[in-house]
Amino acid sequence: MGFLQNFGIPPYRTIPAARRALTRRERGYGGGMDSASYIALEERAGAHNYHPLPVVIAEAEGAWVTDVEGRRYLDFLSAYSALNFGHRHPRLTEVAHRQLDRLTLTSRAIHSDQLGPFCAELTDLVGLERALPMNSGAEAVESAIKTARAWGYRHKGVPDGEAVILVAHQNFHGRTTTIISFSDDPVARNDFGPYTPGFQAIAYGDLDELAAALENPHVVAFLVEPIQGEAGIIVPPDGYLRSVAQMCRDANVLFIADEIQSGLGRTGHTLACDAEGVTPDVLLLGKALGGGIVPISAVASRSDVLGVLRPGEHGSTFGGNPLALAIAREVIALLATGEYQQRSAELGAHMLQRLTHEAPGTVREVRGRGLWAGVEVHEQFAPVRPRCEAALDLGVIVKDTHATTMRLAPPLTISREDLDHGIDVVLKVLG
Ligand SMILES: Cc1ncc(COP(=O)(O)O)c(C=O)c1O
Repeated sequence: MGFLQNFGIPPYRTIPAARRALTRRERGYGGGMDSASYIALEERAGAHNYHPLPVVIAEAEGAWVTDVEGRRYLDFLSAYSALNFGHRHPRLTEVAHRQLDRLTLTSRAIHSDQLGPFCAELTDLVGLERALPMNSGAEAVESAIKTARAWGYRHKGVPDGEAVILVAHQNFHGRTTTIISFSDDPVARNDFGPYTPGFQAIAYGDLDELAAALENPHVVAFLVEPIQGEAGIIVPPDGYLRSVAQMCRDANVLFIADEIQSGLGRTGHTLACDAEGVTPDVLLLGKALGGGIVPISAVASRSDVLGVLRPGEHGSTFGGNPLALAIAREVIALLATGEYQQRSAELGAHMLQRLTHEAPGTVREVRGRGLWAGVEVHEQFAPVRPRCEAALDLGVIVKDTHATTMRLAPPLTISREDLDHGIDVVLKVLG
């Protein structure tokens, strides 16, 4: 019996990890805990604002991740498209290391040698004129809302406090109090009021509703996802985006495309809007812009739109930090070659073709563009979550969105063999 046990205190390691402070080893300096202990610890010490799949990842490379027990899984989720270039893409980690050794943060109180080049390179890539880097996707959306309102008052002549922003039903743009104010998902909204006014929701894909809403001269913008991601990879009718752009132009209203999930190669194009040859007035990017390494988002726009912001009106301490900008510039350089968009288009067509032709009877519909698909099961086979857990048991990570849709978003760097292996597993668990 040891010294502590004389006082009725059990040896440290025999106390379940979930109920005690961690040793240095357990804090990640050499590992030591199993998956169940990590999950129990998270349950005890973390907020329960997610319902993750029961797997604890310790390492990753390319399209593969490894859990704390050493089991490998094929990543068919890519952190909701934040890992478009796979885990730890060598060009991105190299730039990150190099920048870590030079300069990481200045704040916007002074200039850095990364901001100007980032803005120029990003606007070149997407065909716009000004850019504003922020951190999270939601922050880019918030920035666009503020900018559109100010543009409405200062350029369009909308009376102060009267600006209206149109949004689509079933939208997902993030989690801030203003953004959830125009969500129609009760889980995202309930108990988080009072809600921010100034938004009007219209049916997604419906040009008649848009036309009617645009009659209101106080409308300053239409904020919309070119493909609705969280809603279940909902692709609008052909020509929708082109008509939206034209109708907004005619009404002197800003077309704000939220490409935080659909952008940067995911759909087989640099932007989902490219499929219809459309450039929005305001473009929102995030997720993959940080190469799966750091959070960075951006608003890009015509010159007159972001041009309304004056010093002191908007900002963020870490927004446009040199570390994130250096990585984002390398992401932009990767995309400038067109290679990833092409891979996404080719492999995506193969994935969609297989899912469509080999779908078992449980499947109601397969939707998608590029390497991004939503497989919706008939109501009687919902929820789809147990099938995602079955895929996990077979070594493939896929996630449900709402009760009936399984979403697939493998990294754009995935090999065709790995892709086929993942599709085999998905089809098996759907059967
Ligand atoms: C279309 C879209 N906009 C905005 C966001 C919010 O991004 P973040 O989670 O980085 O705040 C998301 C996140 O899923 C998204 O899919």
